[in-house]
Amino acid sequence: SDKGLIVPTLINYKGFWYPPISIFKGVLLMQDQFKARSTDIFLCSAPKTGTTWLKALTFATMNRSKFEFATHPLLTTVPHNCMPYLDAYITDHDVEALPSPRLLSSHSAYSLLPKSTRESPDCKIVYICRNPKDVFVSDYLFSMKLRAPMFPPISMEEAFDLFCKGVCLYGPYFEHVLGYWKARLESPEKILFLKYEEMRRDPVKHVKHLAEFLGKPFSAEEEKAGVIEEILKLCSFDKLTSLEVSKTGKVAFVPEIAIGNETFYRKGKVGDSKNHLTPEMIERLDKITEEKLKGTGFAFGE
Ligand code: A3P
Repeated sequence: SDKGLIVPTLINYKGFWYPPISIFKGVLLMQDQFKARSTDIFLCSAPKTGTTWLKALTFATMNRSKFEFATHPLLTTVPHNCMPYLDAYITDHDVEALPSPRLLSSHSAYSLLPKSTRESPDCKIVYICRNPKDVFVSDYLFSMKLRAPMFPPISMEEAFDLFCKGVCLYGPYFEHVLGYWKARLESPEKILFLKYEEMRRDPVKHVKHLAEFLGKPFSAEEEKAGVIEEILKLCSFDKLTSLEVSKTGKVAFVPEIAIGNETFYRKGKVGDSKNHLTPEMIERLDKITEEKLKGTGFAFGE
């Protein structure tokens, strides 16, 4: 493709679009070299679907007995720096040196995850998805911030047309979601499938479910002591955006691009895309969504 969101050129590899930077090398390395452990936890998502929130919630849930809420690492570190982003990390780190249980994240399509991860009956995958209209708007506005000043902007109309045709980082988006959805149907005990909208509606229920899925259910004492509420407060959009660390500093997932910490947060709302898309755009994407999901038994959260 000679058009792409963050970078003007994307590479299509086995049906998915990658930026021609070290992430692509990482995805190849991941498939070639990564050895799954039965205790691995993978947080998987397409970009802009709630990855930052899921990372914060999972890190806080898994490590809840390790840290006090008043001095929690999430108060001074962006969630992205609390765990390796495997696609980039593997290019210049030794993943074997990470202690178990390894909490890892990836934007890879299910079919491009390491084979040993897909085949391990024990390692766990948590996937989050979000309705495509909000994903597109979030992705477009995020990408425009990252493109400048290296690359000229592209119009929302042009980016939307590309998204509808499946061209976006790690896309096509529908194939990304459906890949994990189908895998989950086959192995429900291995893959937890989350929807951003449902989590926004009932976060307590979903964090409880997440903790159970990861083999760390909240005890009655913890629930009574309000631990779930503390985790939700700590990981909330308002809390994270109020922190000094979210206003300064950058995350350099790859040597080529450093992303300003503030860029990971925008509105954090369900349905904001209606303020950005024309009725025609909404109709087009709704129609594509309907066609893509027909017969799959899957529906996005609203
Ligand atoms: P919007 O652009 O719609 O605001 P990702 O983390 O996968 O890049 O997704 C980014 C989206 O998640 C952005 O959506 C961002 O604002 C939202 N987000 C980030 N942190 C969040 C949080 N703690 N709670 C809810 N949404 C959050």
